[in-house]
Amino acid sequence: MNKHSADATTAEEALAIQETLDSNMATEVAMKNTLLTPRFYTTDFDELDAVDVSHIKSEWDPLIERMLSDPNKGHFKKNDDWDQVDWDNMEPQLKKEFIDFLISSCTAEFSGCVLYKEMKRRGSNKEITQLFQLMARDEARHAGFINDALREAGVAVNLGFLTQKKKYTYFRPKFIYYATYLSEKIGYARYITIFRHLQENPQHRFHPIFKWFEEWCNDEFSHGEAFALLMKADPKLTRGVNVWWIKFFLTAVYATMYIRDHQRPAFHAALGVDPDWYAHEVFTKTSKLSKQIFPITLDIDHPRWKKGLLSIQKANQDLADAKAKGSKLAQLTSSIRAGFAFVMLFTVPSKKHSVPSVTRLEPAY
Ligand SMILES: [Fe+2]
Ligand SMILES: [Fe+2]
Repeated sequence: MNKHSADATTAEEALAIQETLDSNMATEVAMKNTLLTPRFYTTDFDELDAVDVSHIKSEWDPLIERMLSDPNKGHFKKNDDWDQVDWDNMEPQLKKEFIDFLISSCTAEFSGCVLYKEMKRRGSNKEITQLFQLMARDEARHAGFINDALREAGVAVNLGFLTQKKKYTYFRPKFIYYATYLSEKIGYARYITIFRHLQENPQHRFHPIFKWFEEWCNDEFSHGEAFALLMKADPKLTRGVNVWWIKFFLTAVYATMYIRDHQRPAFHAALGVDPDWYAHEVFTKTSKLSKQIFPITLDIDHPRWKKGLLSIQKANQDLADAKAKGSKLAQLTSSIRAGFAFVMLFTVPSKKHSVPSVTRLEPAY
């Protein structure tokens, strides 16, 4: 029997298995670069390679040990729990939004895989390359599994093509830490919230992939832990002017999630999830987790926060409509409105707190 990407022990092996399966199709969607779609990143790999984790080994080693033990090996493949999906009779709007969700999730997983794999390839620091190899392994499996689901709908993302052709955005390592730490932790919060909701309301589980979300989000949780420790290795990263950068990334990541989720009303209706409730739930969980390393959290219950989110979402909606109509003036005014709304969100006073001396957390939701 052919090997499956779920059983692969390295990212390279998982990707090679996936590559033999695909033509392109959904690749075009995955290639899109806008402020809101998942991007590919590159960074200063030498600076990353120079990170010294010797003073945080007591927290680092157990994390690596667990990742090495590979609890999810073999998990990310279809088995008897994978119910038949009736793609042909899926309500068209739901089908469109769900496929869009799968493609953008697959691109995000793969974006992590590419960055982590590159760090492993370029580095010589044993601890750092080991960590990045383990994370790349997980993300390759995740991307491969979503592609398995997409293939049933007659689409799939050509991962090899994406690696070569998608534009890469350069971020300094510290920005990679803030952005990736948050995307791993918010990813955990998103998946576990949906998983728990569907445990309570199985009638809304319209696709089997959601059954895999619990183990899946535990991988993301571990990745987030790794980035928390990388930031802990250099305390400057969470002090002084960098606290403003942390606030910027928190605001950008939360606002992006809010906008994107509101672009998929049929998907959320099918799940039986109110996107406003979901956003608040995910922000609450992510904020609690991020207290492990960030000295501030956003005040998501501040009246101006909700107002700002609504404004930025509406401005983005109008921007999309203006683009579709080809109206340059409407595009300009809605972009300006989106900018103002972002400033409104960014200027909501944040909540300060002290950061615990022990960083490591376990997934508890
Ligand atoms: Fe992942
Ligand atoms: Fe991850």
